[in-house]
Amino acid sequence: MKEKTILGLSFLGRRATNIDLFMYQKSIFNRQENLKKTKFTLNVQSCFKILLILNCSMTVGIYFATTTGKTEDIAERLHGLLDSAEGPKDISDVDDLSELAGHDGVICGIPTWNTGADSERSGTAWDSILEDIGELDLSGKKVAIFGLGDSSTYTENYCDAMEELHRYFQQAGASMVGYTAKTDYTFDESKSVVGEEFCGLPLDEDSESDMTDERLSGWAEKLKGEMF
Ligand SMILES: Cc1cc2nc3c(=O)[nH]c(=O)nc-3n(C[C@H](O)[C@H](O)[C@H](O)COP(=O)(O)O)c2cc1C
Repeated sequence: MKEKTILGLSFLGRRATNIDLFMYQKSIFNRQENLKKTKFTLNVQSCFKILLILNCSMTVGIYFATTTGKTEDIAERLHGLLDSAEGPKDISDVDDLSELAGHDGVICGIPTWNTGADSERSGTAWDSILEDIGELDLSGKKVAIFGLGDSSTYTENYCDAMEELHRYFQQAGASMVGYTAKTDYTFDESKSVVGEEFCGLPLDEDSESDMTDERLSGWAEKLKGEMF
């Protein structure tokens, strides 16, 4: 039996509304490999359709860690808004962190529990893998972070853990997206304000849960433009 595999396409030239391409095809027959190069022509419109299909095949993974389940619940709601994303998956179930590098984009949910701490602010599974994240090669990958906190009780440390995770992903070379204006929030201090914005999406299921739907859906729309 003859097996055929398309190895790739290369651009040959452009004539008016047509584009000439070479298709490289490997066939195996009786254990003998053959490489065949075929010239073919596509109109510009079909080329755009192919590019669109290739673009749609990008993968985005949603990961979270949680102590009382709120960050997991938000991860699931976000997945409902971004149904082409994979997951959500608890980061403590990821055995090999290189899984993150296998995606084109990664969305991470992190709560803050260690109030006022300089490091390991989350108090969840994220804390023990921060340095490993920093050592990944995530150049060319897009990463967005959402954080869970309580802006009323912990107003001096609102969603502090987001910034720590953000820093290690930046160290890995990721391109950070999904920043949020701080103007719609009431809080005193947050380490997650980087420059003039939050370095992700802060959510407050303790004191402002009535605002979560609108914040989350607005952020999902923003990510569709910045990440997908
Ligand atoms: C002991 C304790 C400490 C907390 N520390 C903070 C904090 O420093 N900053 C903050 O924004 N929220 C803080 N929170 C609120 C939690 O982050 C919030 O309830 C969050 O939704 C929990 O998410 P989870 O259920 O996914 O673990 C704290 C809550 C408790 C009970």
